[in-house]
Amino acid sequence: MYDYVLFDLDGTLTRSGDGIKKSAAYAIARLGYAPLSDAQLDKFVGPPLLEMFMTLCGMDEPTALKAVGFYRERFESVGWRENAVYPGIAPLLRALRAAGKYVAIATAKPEYFAVRIAEYFGMAPYLNAVTGASMADHHADKAALIARALPAGADKRRAVMVGDRKFDVLGAKAAGVHSLAVGYGYGSRDELEACAPDLFAADVSSLFSLLGVERPRGCFITFEGTDGCGKSTQMALAADWLSERGWELVRTREPGGCPISERIRQIVLSDASDADARGMTDECEALLFAASRAQHVHDVILPALRAGKIVLCDRFLDSSIVYQGYGRELGEDFIRQINKPALSARPDLTLLYEIDEREALGRATRDGHADRIEAEGAAYQRRVQSAYARLRDHEPERLRGVDATGTIEDVFARTQKALSDFLDTKE
Ligand code: TYD
Repeated sequence: MYDYVLFDLDGTLTRSGDGIKKSAAYAIARLGYAPLSDAQLDKFVGPPLLEMFMTLCGMDEPTALKAVGFYRERFESVGWRENAVYPGIAPLLRALRAAGKYVAIATAKPEYFAVRIAEYFGMAPYLNAVTGASMADHHADKAALIARALPAGADKRRAVMVGDRKFDVLGAKAAGVHSLAVGYGYGSRDELEACAPDLFAADVSSLFSLLGVERPRGCFITFEGTDGCGKSTQMALAADWLSERGWELVRTREPGGCPISERIRQIVLSDASDADARGMTDECEALLFAASRAQHVHDVILPALRAGKIVLCDRFLDSSIVYQGYGRELGEDFIRQINKPALSARPDLTLLYEIDEREALGRATRDGHADRIEAEGAAYQRRVQSAYARLRDHEPERLRGVDATGTIEDVFARTQKALSDFLDTKE
């Protein structure tokens, strides 16, 4: 198996085509050349740009150099961020590092951009090195980059270069390391087959076994807090942020999350003015939440965790403990008992958004509508709030309090901190 795993960046770790193609099209337009088709622009992803401007647009070298200048102008300001890490790459890099492998990027892109991208998209903590071309090198030789990306004295027979274009495969062969071509990037099947890579991975999932690491088990992250604390907004932002960084996610919520449970949600969260629901007993309410959860765990949460995904869930068992156990005063033991079917899915991390209860309720009911639970009085809300605080003190390693005061951006910065602390340290 391999001790040294080198990755190409564009089309292998990141789906960067959008930013690259738009920047190339911008340069071509600035120089007054005829626009290229989308398929032609695809060819810009991976190889040195100068060569592409010359072969695809028929530019001479001085003009192509100007094109690279215009390209970089746009790429530097916006293009580098029109990018996302492929789903599943984040757990792959983490598993490789955890297995003690040497992991590096070897790209024909200027190292300056490659480092910035690796940092911004959260890959840097898992990498031993990021090797790219210099800004002035327009003919970057992949074999030389590969040699430079390896540590001194590395046994090349135990090294593999993973990439999506023929340049990566041919570079690997010239550098004397194994080649692994990926079929999900920008190289066509024909292009890759023609250069006969040692190994082929059709998707990110197959990279785990080909590189000799196990796919880590998924993890379960829940978002909790009193009504109006902003947790749903934070969860939506967190989902986008984690996906862009290459984590595979399932977003869900309680009560609900699957068809049966969404129907239960309609009953249990009916409007405060709904006469039919007004007579619902506290026990009935607690059992409906538990019923919804049992189905949700079975249909959505456990399958996603088994598939190695991160599950982000807006509320879970803690909500029943605080709202029904303490708010309705049914007691924590009763709630835990009726929720036994859900105990097989224990959250690995719970972010608890903490805010003054009056401010929170003001936010929650600003639109003038309150569900049955939001319409409860202040004493009830206070019991809920103090029950959350008690849970947090009782299980500090799982429940992390997040200060939910300030702007959405302020709170999101705290959310990001909590998530990176957890994901970068989790075994
Ligand atoms: P919430 O996440 O606030 O949904 P929305 O923002 O769409 O109104 O949750 C709905 C309500 O359900 C909230 O008042 C808390 C309550 N709830 C419980 O009382 N027990 C539970 O187990 C769950 C999951 C929610």
